Amino acid sequence: MRISVLGCGYLGAVHAAALASLGHDVLGVDVDAARVNALADGRPPFFEPGLGELLQRAVRSGRLRFTTTPADDGLADAELHFITVGTPQSDDGSADLSAVESALDTILAAVPVGARPVVAGKSTVPVGTAKRLAERLAASGATLVWNPEFLREGRAVEDTLHPDRIVYGLPDDPAQARRGREALDAAYAPLLAEGIPRIATNYPTAELVKMAANSFLATKISFINAMAELCEATGGDVVALADVLGYDDRIGRKFLRAGVGFGGGCLPKDIRAFVARAEELGVGDALTFLKQVDAINQRRRDRVVALAERWLGGDVAGARVTVLGAAFKPDSDDVRDSPALDVALRLADRGALVRVCDPRALDVVERLHPGLDTRRDPLAALEGAEVVLLLTEWQEFIDLDPAEAAGQVARPVVIDGRNALDPGRWREAGWTHLGLGRPPSGPGLSRPELARHRATPATARRPERQLSGS
Ligand code: UDX
Repeated sequence: MRISVLGCGYLGAVHAAALASLGHDVLGVDVDAARVNALADGRPPFFEPGLGELLQRAVRSGRLRFTTTPADDGLADAELHFITVGTPQSDDGSADLSAVESALDTILAAVPVGARPVVAGKSTVPVGTAKRLAERLAASGATLVWNPEFLREGRAVEDTLHPDRIVYGLPDDPAQARRGREALDAAYAPLLAEGIPRIATNYPTAELVKMAANSFLATKISFINAMAELCEATGGDVVALADVLGYDDRIGRKFLRAGVGFGGGCLPKDIRAFVARAEELGVGDALTFLKQVDAINQRRRDRVVALAERWLGGDVAGARVTVLGAAFKPDSDDVRDSPALDVALRLADRGALVRVCDPRALDVVERLHPGLDTRRDPLAALEGAEVVLLLTEWQEFIDLDPAEAAGQVARPVVIDGRNALDPGRWREAGWTHLGLGRPPSGPGLSRPELARHRATPATARRPERQLSGS
């Protein structure tokens, strides 16, 4: 099948490479020439495990091309166009749809009269967008389907090739719905053949499903972080509390890791856009709780800043602080709305001498914040620190030897903003270990409890699968 993918960010670049690996002829389109050149060379413009290999194989096979000038490079030949552009947050919290609109304009301008392609929206949009875009497309004879994407950064390749489910938001008109369904069935044929569930529904459900999923995940995280606040007020231990909750299948263990909270390019902006849209629709009351979810999440950052201040005697000016982590989560170089970077910048604003360490995200940190002191080696980053903050739980940081680390710092105090370290081990090595929502001293977790906590990744891995068609 000939397919175009408009927008080659985290979502589109992975989607384009994955479709090519499934045997399709894919044209990736982006306005950013540097990004297009890198992708065309098989070099991912951002860190995403497995993407380099997938891209190189697809580009070498000749089934994957990238362009900034799609009209000259065969956009009109595609039978199916995916829209995978970003929908960033506007000043008022709503989603900025200008890139979606211009992707649609690009398709409309290139497609010859009578070609009747299928356009599949994957970007996360406010409910009601698909209906409006379908009206714009009607005169061209194109069919619009909405096909939301649930991939996680750091697991994007795996999530794209082994999704939990594939959702089709189809038009009400039965003939149009059939065309849309057939096009998506052809694109995803190898995945459907493996038995991945396919759920066909209408436009608003498909749009809402994405917002509902992200809101639920954000709510789970803020729920456990609210419990952390209660633990802090009472001497409880939120890690033990989450462990006990996890025995109840109805609750489950995932997304109950208390810490400095959620960030990234999706959860924070999506819950705000959802609230803004609900207010526009006159049902703002239904989502008031999401404002609380957002507020709880912000308070965790305040808490980390306050803890650092307290351990530095109330005034951070001139104090040496090492922040381990800048990416919003491990296995990513994305610093969008990153709690780690936000806390680092807030402490730097208050006059602290902040040094930031991250295995992958420092290039972008140095570009965005040239004033911040950065170190790639964690031990070097710890040198002379009066307080250490672990804010992104990279394995390199978890694997640090606490005794060796203690030898580097001026004062062995660690604020474990992800509850990722073994407090017992760090305390034995002379550290004051301060977890979020955890008592500052005490028995800590037993080894089996710790093992269960560790074995519950924020996002669970699924088994590897052989990539077909490559
Ligand atoms: C999320 C959704 O998971 C994905 O389905 C959607 O398509 C896009 O948004 P992503 O932003 O890549 O994906 O990251 P995710 O793994 O969901 O983590 C989001 C944030 O929550 C991170 O900052 C992470 O550190 C934090 N988190 C996650 C917690 O604080 N506690 C947890 O238990 C889990």
